[in-house]
Amino acid sequence: MKIGGITLERGIALAPMAGITDRAMRELAVGFGAEYTVTEMISAKAVCYGSAKTEELAVLGDAERPAAIQIFGSEQDFMAEAAERLCGRYSPDAIDINMGCPMKKIVSNGEGSALMKDPALAASIVSAVKKRVKVPVTVKIRSGWDENSINAPDIARRLEAAGADMICVHGRTKTQLYGGRADRGVIAAVKRAVSVPVMGNGDIFSARDATDMMGETGCDGVMIARGCEGRPWIFAEIAAAMDGRTVVFDAADRKAALRKHMELIIKYKGERGIAPARAQLAWYMKGFRGAAALRAKAVAVETAENIAGLISAMPDEDEEYSETTDFTYN
Ligand SMILES: Cc1cc2nc3c(=O)[nH]c(=O)nc-3n(C[C@H](O)[C@H](O)[C@H](O)COP(=O)(O)O)c2cc1C
Repeated sequence: MKIGGITLERGIALAPMAGITDRAMRELAVGFGAEYTVTEMISAKAVCYGSAKTEELAVLGDAERPAAIQIFGSEQDFMAEAAERLCGRYSPDAIDINMGCPMKKIVSNGEGSALMKDPALAASIVSAVKKRVKVPVTVKIRSGWDENSINAPDIARRLEAAGADMICVHGRTKTQLYGGRADRGVIAAVKRAVSVPVMGNGDIFSARDATDMMGETGCDGVMIARGCEGRPWIFAEIAAAMDGRTVVFDAADRKAALRKHMELIIKYKGERGIAPARAQLAWYMKGFRGAAALRAKAVAVETAENIAGLISAMPDEDEEYSETTDFTYN
C-alpha cells in the first residue's frame, strides 16, 4: 500500500497508544517488522502554546520511520499551525489526525471521536492541515459515535475529498470504548467508500487476526495496538503469515525482546522511564513459568539494575512455547 509517497510492502503498522507507543516501543516495533509507526497523540493547542513536555512526544528517531506524528484538537487553525510547526521541527513522514479518542476530557472539548459527530468540521480540519504541510495527512477514525450513528464510510468519503491520504478505521463506536468486538463490516464499508488506502484496526491479537482482517474487509493494511503489549514480535508473526510462513518466539527470544525494550526505554527516558516501564515489563511475563511471581516483582522495580536482574532471573524455557526460531532482531 501507499500513503502518499510512502510504500508499505505489507501494510503492517503500529497503532498509536498514549503512554505506551513511545519512541522505545516504536523503534522496537520497527525492529520486529512494523512498517509504519504513529506517535502518541499530541495536543495541537499545547504545541501552539509551546509546551516542551508535549513536544517531547514528537521527537522521532530514524529507527522508527516511516512515522506519523498524531495530533488532536478541534480547531482547524490550531491543528494546521501545530502540524506545520511539528513538520518543521521533527520532520515526520506523515501527520495523522485523531478522530477516535473516546476519553471524556478529550471529547468534552469536541476533540478526538467527538469529530465523528461533525463531519463538516472534521473535513475542514483535514483540508486546513493539508494546506500547511507537504507530507501525507492521514486520519484515524472510529466506526461512529454510537450504534445509531455509524457514519465511518460517509465521513471517510468527506475526509478523502478534503485531502486525506489514508484512513485508519477502528471498528468500534465511541460509546463502545474498548468493549465488544471491532466490527469488520464497517471497515469493509469504508474500504468500498474511498479510493485512498484504508487500514483496519481493532482486536488484532494474532497473525491470524491480521490476515482475517485483511481478507474479510479488503483493507490495505492493519494497525495493531493492544496486541503488541508485551509481545512486539507480533509484527514478525504477521509478516510471516502474510508470506505463508510461521515464526515462533521461544522464551529466550522473548527475553531478548524484553531486554531490548527496557534498554531502549532507559536510553530515551533514563530512570524517568522506569515507572511507566513497569506495566510493560509485567506484560512480557505472560507465558513464562512462574509468571505471577515475576509480575509481582515487575511492578516493584525501582532501577535499571532491578530490571536487568529480573530479566536474567526469568526462565529461558517455558511450557507454552517450545519451538525455536531463526528470527533475528534488526
Ligand atoms: C492505552 C491506549 C492508548 C491509546 N492511545 C491512542 C492515541 O493516542 N491515539 C489514537 O488514535 N488511538 C489511541 N488508542 C487506540 C488504539 O490506537 C486502537 O485504535 C485501539 O486500541 C483498538 O486497536 P487494538 O484492538 O489493536 O488495541 C489507544 C488505545 C489504548 C488501549
